[in-house]
Amino acid sequence: MVFLFRTAKNKYRLGVNAVEVHAAKHSYRVLIGTGLLANAGDAIKDVLSPTRCALISDTNVAPRFGDQLQKNLVAAGHEPKLITVPSGEESKTLERAGEICEQMLVASLNRQSFVIGLGGGVIGDLSGFVAAIFQRGIPHVQIPTTLLAMADSSVGGKTGVNTRSGKNLIGAFHPPSLVIDDVDVLKTLPRRELNQGFAEIIKHAIIADAKMFQQLEEGDPNKIDFAAMIRRNIEIKAQIVEKDEREQIDERALLNFGHTIGHAIERAASYRDIAHGEAVSLGMVAAANISFKKTGLAEKDRDRIVDLLRKFGLPTQLPENFPRPEIFEALKFDKKFSRGQIRFVVTPKIGSAKFSSDVTIVDLRGAIGNL
Ligand SMILES: NC(=O)c1ccc[n+]([C@@H]2O[C@H](COP(=O)([O-])OP(=O)(O)OC[C@H]3O[C@@H](n4cnc5c(N)ncnc54)[C@H](O)[C@@H]3O)[C@@H](O)[C@H]2O)c1
Ligand SMILES: [Zn+2]
Repeated sequence: MVFLFRTAKNKYRLGVNAVEVHAAKHSYRVLIGTGLLANAGDAIKDVLSPTRCALISDTNVAPRFGDQLQKNLVAAGHEPKLITVPSGEESKTLERAGEICEQMLVASLNRQSFVIGLGGGVIGDLSGFVAAIFQRGIPHVQIPTTLLAMADSSVGGKTGVNTRSGKNLIGAFHPPSLVIDDVDVLKTLPRRELNQGFAEIIKHAIIADAKMFQQLEEGDPNKIDFAAMIRRNIEIKAQIVEKDEREQIDERALLNFGHTIGHAIERAASYRDIAHGEAVSLGMVAAANISFKKTGLAEKDRDRIVDLLRKFGLPTQLPENFPRPEIFEALKFDKKFSRGQIRFVVTPKIGSAKFSSDVTIVDLRGAIGNL
């Protein structure tokens, strides 16, 4: 569907893909297209009244797109205060969120203000968390700049920071008011970062879309129609999240396929050297092996999963010297280990996922040992 995108002032028209996401408290639109950054100020004005706002970004993204966006915001009547944090997972902390809130107070932002996150998943999660807690919650606009953030993390309302004990253990559900996916910004994204996005895209394919899985297998990785791909992934995620926004039934937790072991790998690596998508790739290899052993996933399909991850430059084996016992230690902190019981997401068939309570600690240890 092409949505004709117009501001109140009718200053411009663009052919843009739009997906409407229905959160419990409000619905929001995800705009997907090219040239959107140059019109972001007006797009935001369609949803939020112009006022002081925090523009949170990182040291890689702000120098590339910060100026252009700030000028555009000002032209539309907004008053942005740019706050830049060091790039990388290490910025996703409670301390950093607190510092940003202090800077916002010093800049006289108030309950009428809003927050814009310009960056990858780290900035999306951190700026969203700041928006959730500043003055007990102000609106959040996501302007994702990585494939991972566009295809996954900017939609669904999960925000948060990491702790020494594990990933995303402090956070809030705070759905955005608007998401602007300008696929042009992906041109400056390094290949390794692009591949992080494919990890989540392959995850969506495994759990919900056998056809997309096949398209990814058959397609040329250098000729991807990003707008169409992102749109499909947002639809898959939105469909799941709309049924279970706060992960109260099993539905939303299906999105954790590959993440139980993936998060433990990230923690064991102290969030360095292995990026989120890479850890999830390894976690999906382990989950595919467990699915093969326990839930009848065909051996051929297990191999297809591993091959597809490889095709997109994602790791399917841990480096030889990786501290494997620490992965197992880190698993104890996983939120999914409710009341000591393992709730593990498996795929009995590509295109579908379910929970299994048959998976034992021994299975996990075995799958990690084989990575
Ligand atoms: N909230 C959710 O539902 C959800 C879902 C999935 C992942 N996540 C989180 O997302 C994070 C990972 O996100 P990510 O992979 O986007 O990492 P990231 O935000 O660290 O970005 C990756 C790197 O690319 C740089 N970068 C970003 N955009 C760029 C561009 N256009 N050009 C050049 N460089 C650019 C960044 O500065 C960074 O160095 C993790 O913290 C993960 O937990 C959250
Ligand atoms: Zn993820």
